[in-house]
Amino acid sequence: MFDFFKVQKVVVKKQSIPEATDIANIHAIALYFQKHTGIEFDSSSSVFQIKMKSFCKMHKVSSFKNILIELQKNQDLKQELINYLTTNESYFNREFHQIESLVASVKESFSHVRILCVPCSHGEEPYSIAIALLEAGVSSTKFDITGIDINKEVIAQAQQAIYNEKAIRNLSASVRSSYFTKEGSLFSLHSEIKNKVTFKCINIFESSFQKLEKFDYIFSRNMLIYFDTSTRIKAQKLFEEHLVDTSKDIYYGHADVTHLHTLS
Ligand SMILES: C[S@@+](CC[C@H](N)C(=O)[O-])C[C@H]1O[C@@H](n2cnc3c(N)ncnc32)[C@H](O)[C@@H]1O
Repeated sequence: MFDFFKVQKVVVKKQSIPEATDIANIHAIALYFQKHTGIEFDSSSSVFQIKMKSFCKMHKVSSFKNILIELQKNQDLKQELINYLTTNESYFNREFHQIESLVASVKESFSHVRILCVPCSHGEEPYSIAIALLEAGVSSTKFDITGIDINKEVIAQAQQAIYNEKAIRNLSASVRSSYFTKEGSLFSLHSEIKNKVTFKCINIFESSFQKLEKFDYIFSRNMLIYFDTSTRIKAQKLFEEHLVDTSKDIYYGHADVTHLHTLS
């Protein structure tokens, strides 16, 4: 009697997804990634293999062959892989001597200047430039900055502009107090600086990059190091085509320049 009141225990069997083990197919993923982003991975490295295994696991896919099939038909998954695999290390006032050189040049210019930061990661570099220009007495109406990166997550973080101590370690106490509000252990950038930078999630090898207008100055630091030689040359050409004045130098990072020297 009253059996229908008994709570039926539903046993949900946890489906465990087997780990991807078809290592023979991982090279195809590295090639796919390089073709779309320019970034070169050594598919025989255990770091890349471990990362790809956990990416498959996160998406409940049990083989490298199947994740590649999924990547080819699902744009969101492709973007997730880009967010997952790119190295986005950056900090304020990195290689500051280059920013100082840009500031000196902008001060000499009589017209409005447009600056491109590609890649911009979480915004540390374009914001450092904006702060340095204002600190040097350049009017905020004299310049604007565009920040570009292939990683959608870092672009969202750049727009938020909240940083930890490590990211702002090179900034003086006076710059920190003039342009940031401390919120617990984090530092929130003031809108006066945020408004000087427009961020876009763009892959430099896609047509949306070619469609961008031209710039007076281009910063491209610490990206070419992830590309092979022919991709580096391709990227350099793209940047040169985006300069208003082609006699102007593009600011590459110290590590990029070391790689570029090996080309000549
Ligand atoms: C190490 S960060 C450099 C950030 C900053 N320029 C600096 O030097 O501190 C390299 C950035 O390059 C971006 N990247 C890699 N390939 C790219 C591509 N094809 N198009 C646009 N951004 C790319 C990555 O997402 C990453 O945020």
